[in-house]
Amino acid sequence: MSSLANNKQYSHDVLIIGSGAAGLTLALSLAQKHKVALLSKSVLNQGSTWYAQGGIAAVLDSQDSIEAHVADTLNAGAGLCHQDAVRFTVENSADAINWLVQQGVDFTREGESEDYHLTKEGGHSHRRIIHSADATGKAVHTALAQRVKEHQNIEVFENRIAIDLVKQPSPNSRKLRCVGAYVYNRQQDQVDSYQAKAVILATGGASKVYLYTSNPDGASGDGIAMAWRAGCRVANMEFNQFHPTCLFHPEAKSFLITEALRGEGAHLKLPNGKRFMEKFDRRGELAPRDIVARAIDHEMKRLGSDCLYLDISHKPAEFIAEHFPTVKAQCLEYGIDITKDQIPVVPAAHYTCGGVVVDKNGQTDLQQLYAIGETSFTGLHGANRMASNSLLECVVYAQSAARHIEQTITDVAPITPIPAWDASRVTDSDEDVVISHNWDELRRFMWDYVGIVRTRKRLERATHRIKLLQKEIAEYYSNYKVGNDQIELRNLATVAELIIRSAMLRKESRGLHYSLDHPDLANIAKDTMLVPMNFAGQDIIVSTT
Ligand code: FAD
Ligand code: SIN
Repeated sequence: MSSLANNKQYSHDVLIIGSGAAGLTLALSLAQKHKVALLSKSVLNQGSTWYAQGGIAAVLDSQDSIEAHVADTLNAGAGLCHQDAVRFTVENSADAINWLVQQGVDFTREGESEDYHLTKEGGHSHRRIIHSADATGKAVHTALAQRVKEHQNIEVFENRIAIDLVKQPSPNSRKLRCVGAYVYNRQQDQVDSYQAKAVILATGGASKVYLYTSNPDGASGDGIAMAWRAGCRVANMEFNQFHPTCLFHPEAKSFLITEALRGEGAHLKLPNGKRFMEKFDRRGELAPRDIVARAIDHEMKRLGSDCLYLDISHKPAEFIAEHFPTVKAQCLEYGIDITKDQIPVVPAAHYTCGGVVVDKNGQTDLQQLYAIGETSFTGLHGANRMASNSLLECVVYAQSAARHIEQTITDVAPITPIPAWDASRVTDSDEDVVISHNWDELRRFMWDYVGIVRTRKRLERATHRIKLLQKEIAEYYSNYKVGNDQIELRNLATVAELIIRSAMLRKESRGLHYSLDHPDLANIAKDTMLVPMNFAGQDIIVSTT
């Protein structure tokens, strides 16, 4: 069974894998002079960016300062943020917002002065979150995607899922470089090759590895898994952030209740109506996310309760409707009127703080390969990302990667055409149940054993489970034709392994990683750096099947 005859071969200057805030920003920043291919696994807007609610953190108010934003980020990151990355991001925050405004993003204004309204979220000492009501991601994505679609130098490919990166030795040195990717076309059911002088992973995070998540379906860590297989280092994967407040309702799939509700005064309550956050942190409901999520988890377990409650009903109904129209409408669909009722909430996996190790230009360990946005590890977030710093990171690092690509792309040596995908040794699957079973099992044990509170025993169980699953998945992958679910499952298993390994290595509790066996903070803060066997491009070439 070979689909070789149908394979297409594409060639562009730049290949961007992912169409969220990071990928779109990079595409627009390069398209003036270069031919860009932009891939999206599903339709253009199906990434986390579209669903972002609260906003984007930036120093925009005269009472605020770069020093304060830096200090808050470092504080939320529990000693593990890289100071240079934090300063770099925050110093570029106002420019990033100005750029978004120039692209047509419509941020909420208020009062007669029509100044931008700035809201507050956990860990921030000032109001510094610029937003578009409670649907900031939609506003950002809509504006950028519109520009991308209009740009003659950007070719958009929807329903294309990158499977693996392609490497070739650089003619000028013995080192390997990235020259493209094999990509599954979901509509045509075939694998095409995309060749480019610069390849960028902008594939978002990996929170789908957990049973309960705020993320859309595609958040399967594809970029992290591809980079790892290609020989790049991956860091701090144990720090998966759990958002404290996702809607708890049997029919509601992953709907987030934005932290901005708490920023505007909402209270967290126990089933008996009592507030409890002061017991855990003097900042109460506005403590950093790791603390709030752990407190909720603790109270739910103590009381045997399925959920706790978020209550903003003491605020005027008009205020709620104006600031939180999306949350209000969504909750109403489930019979909850947030102007009168408490909202049932639970924590859910939300953000991957670790990722592919990059420098300030988004460069990975592999020449000509970049990673930006949630896929990357820049050092900004440390052991716990501060709210609304992610979209900021997407824009700031996409722009710095664009500058670097701009400066270096003309020196890239010619690429040998990529060989067509070889599907001659695989057949059509006759037991897709293996995929759905393994998919469910993996996400459940990650939730149960590698969740908000961890123990050595639970991590050992998870290690055992992931080894068995990976063996089955590898067998399946080498015997059957590729398909979307199979590609994602293989990546989820890789990412799960990286999370478990990292969690096993950390013998302390810090930020989002809390272990009952090691409840204290170590004296020295260290990143968990995983180094693949084939690090630094020692292996020879293209490995895809
Ligand atoms: P994404 O926006 O996730 O986009 C990933 C893209 O990669 C998608 O286009 C997908 O199709 C594509 N892709 C993935 N794998 C492949 C593949 N193999 N082949 C081809 N394409 C692929 N952050 C904030 O700063 N402020 C907020 O208010 C905020 N609210 C949030 C609310 C929710 C519900 C969620 C889930 C997240 C929120 N975050 C927020 C986090 C933030 O939205 C994300 O971290 C950010 O949008 C990530 O952007 P990205 O461009 O890196 O990836
Ligand atoms: C939210 O609106 O609560 C999400 C903000 C974020 O994840 O940064």
